[in-house]
Amino acid sequence: MQSVADRLRALLEAAGRHWPAPIDHLVSIGSTNDRLKERARSGASEWTVVLADRQTAGRGRHGHSWVSPPGNLYSSVLLRPAFGADRVCLLPLAAGVAVAEALAACGVEAQLKWPNDVLVGGRKIAGILAEGLAGASGVDVVVLGIGVNVNAAPAGLPPEIRATAASLEGVTNRAWDPVSVAAAVLPRLSVWYDALGRGDPRSIVAAWRDRSVPWWGRIVEVRSGAEVIRGVARDVDANGGLRLELEDGHVTTVVSGEVQELRLT
Ligand code: BTN
Repeated sequence: MQSVADRLRALLEAAGRHWPAPIDHLVSIGSTNDRLKERARSGASEWTVVLADRQTAGRGRHGHSWVSPPGNLYSSVLLRPAFGADRVCLLPLAAGVAVAEALAACGVEAQLKWPNDVLVGGRKIAGILAEGLAGASGVDVVVLGIGVNVNAAPAGLPPEIRATAASLEGVTNRAWDPVSVAAAVLPRLSVWYDALGRGDPRSIVAAWRDRSVPWWGRIVEVRSGAEVIRGVARDVDANGGLRLELEDGHVTTVVSGEVQELRLT
C-alpha cells in the first residue's frame, strides 16, 4: 500500500506541483512543529513537511495546547526565507489565506480572524502556529504549523473547545481525507510564499483583508500576555499588524495577541 507521504506527493504531483523536499509522516508525535524544528536544526531543506495522524503535545498560539485526536490534519512546513523581517512577518497571514483558499476548494467559505485563526460560521476550523528560529542574520528558519479540524467532530473535543470549534466534515456532511486537505493547502502556501519572495506583500494583505471577519469599525479587545488593549479595529498594515483606534483617538498597531469582538451590552 502507498505510504501517506507518497500519497501526498502523488496528489501534489497530480495538481502540477512536484514537491521539492522530504515529506515525513508519523502516526503519532508530540508536536509536528517540534519535530520539524529538530529537522531544521540538522539541516533539513526548505519545504520539508512533517505530517502526523495525531499529536500528543500539540501546541497552539500563546502557549495554548492544540488538542489533536486522529482524523484531522496536523502538518508543519519548513521555510528558509531569503527575504527580510518586513516580509517574514507576513508569513502567518499568508498561511491563513492559503488554508482559507484550500477550504474554499473544498466548498467551504472560511473567514480569517487576525492574525490567522480560520473560522467557519464564527467557529474555529483551523489554526496556524508560526515559529521562527534565529540565525546570525535574523530569523532564517520559519516553521509553519497548520492544524485543520477535518473529521474529528467537535463532539469528540474537550467541552471547553467544543462550543467554539468546527470541522470540515461537520460543515460539509461528508468525511475528508486529511492528506487531500494538505494537498490543497501546500500549493496555495507556495504561491503566496513566491509572492512574498517577489516583493509583493501588498497582495497578501489584500487577500487576507478580502477573507477577514467583518470587524472593521467595531470594538475589539486584544490580549497579549497580561496586556489587554481595547479599541476600534481599523485595518491591517503592510506588516500584518492590527491597527486599533484607542478611546483617545490615537491609532496603535498591535503585532501579536488574541483578538475578540466586544459586544457591549
Ligand atoms: C492556534 O490557533 O493556536 C494554532 C494551532 C496550531 C496547531 C498546529 S497542528 C500542527 C502543528 N503542530 C503543533 O504542535 N501545532 C501546529
